[in-house]
Amino acid sequence: MTAEALICSDRDLYLPQPATVVSKTVLTATETLFEIRLDSGEELKHMPGQFVEVTVPGVGEAPISVSSSPDRKDGFELVVRRAGRVTSAMHDRRCGEKLGIRGPFGTHYPVDGVMRGRDIVFIAGGIGLAPLRSAIHWVLNHRQDYGKVTVLYGTKSPAERLFLDELSDWSCRPDVTFMETVDRADANWKGNVGVITKLIPTAGIDAARTVVAACGPPIMYKFVIVSLYAIDVMDESIYVSLERRMKCGIGKCGHCQINGLYACTDGPVFNHADILRVQEAI
Ligand SMILES: Cc1cc2nc3c(=O)[nH]c(=O)nc-3n(C[C@H](O)[C@H](O)[C@H](O)COP(=O)(O)OP(=O)(O)OC[C@H]3O[C@@H](n4cnc5c(N)ncnc54)[C@H](O)[C@@H]3O)c2cc1C
Ligand code: FES
Repeated sequence: MTAEALICSDRDLYLPQPATVVSKTVLTATETLFEIRLDSGEELKHMPGQFVEVTVPGVGEAPISVSSSPDRKDGFELVVRRAGRVTSAMHDRRCGEKLGIRGPFGTHYPVDGVMRGRDIVFIAGGIGLAPLRSAIHWVLNHRQDYGKVTVLYGTKSPAERLFLDELSDWSCRPDVTFMETVDRADANWKGNVGVITKLIPTAGIDAARTVVAACGPPIMYKFVIVSLYAIDVMDESIYVSLERRMKCGIGKCGHCQINGLYACTDGPVFNHADILRVQEAI
C-alpha cells in the first residue's frame, strides 16, 4: 500500500458514516436497545465481540459493542447504558434521528475459529450480555456447528436483567443449558441468589471440550477464572472482553493501552493465555 493510500484509508477510519435510529426499546431503567441502519444501505459486517464508535453530532463519541448477530443483514443493534454525556445524548435521540458510526473495530470471539465443534459456555455479567448476545445468536443460528451450549447470566438485581423474552426462550430450549442468578433478590424473584461463580460447578461443564466466552466487569473475571481453573478449564480455552477508555478505536492515540497491548486493536476480546503476562489487565 502506498503512503498516500494509507493516509487515505486512515482518514476513512476516522470518518463517521451517517446512520439512522430505526427503533428504540427500553430494556431497564438505564439500558435501551437501539436498532440502527447505515444510511448508505451497506451492512456493518461485524463479528461478535466487536464494537463501533458512535457519534452523537455536536456532543461526542463513545465505543459501544454490537449486540446483534452478523447474520442480521438489515441493520444492527446496540445496547446503551446511560452513563454520561454521550450515552445520555444517545438515549435522547428519537427514531429517525441521525448518529455517526465508525467501525466495526477490534477483535471478536472466535465463533468462526476455535469455538466451532466445541462445547461453548457463555458467561455474562450485567451489561456484558449485550456483546455476548451477538455471539449467542450466531451460535444458535448455526447450532449444528457447535457442541453443548451453556449460558450463565448474573445481574446485581432482577430489575437489571436484559432481554427478558430471550432469557425465557433460552431457558425453554432443549439444546441450551441456561442458568442465571442475581446478587440480591426482590420479593418476586424465585431463582438463584448469589454471585455468578456459584453456577459454574453445577453447570455440567466438560473442561476438555469447552471454550468459554465471558463478558462482564473486571471483578467478575477475577472470580470466574478461579472457578474455571477449579474445574480444569485451561487459559487457552477462555476468551474475555476487556473495556478501557478509548478515543480513536484504531490503535493510534494510546488511550486504551494496557502494558503494551491496545484494547481497541489487540482486543477487546482477548484469549486469557495471551493476557496473563499483562498483570494489570484484569
Ligand atoms: C470496547 C467497548 C465496548 C463498550 N460497549 C458498551 C456497550 O455495549 N454498551 C454501553 O452502554 N457501554 C459500552 N461501553 C462503555 C461506554 O463506551 C461508556 O459508558 C461511554 O463511553 C461513556 O461515555 P459518556 O460520554 O456517556 O460518559 P462520560 O461522561 O464520559 O463518563 C460517565 C461515566 O462513565 C465512565 N466511563 C466512561 N468510559 C468508560 C468505559 N470505557 N468503561 C467504563 N466506564 C466508563 C466514566 O468514568 C464516568 O464515571 C463500551 C466501552 C468499550 C471500551
Ligand atoms: S483507543 Fe486509541 S489506541 Fe486504542
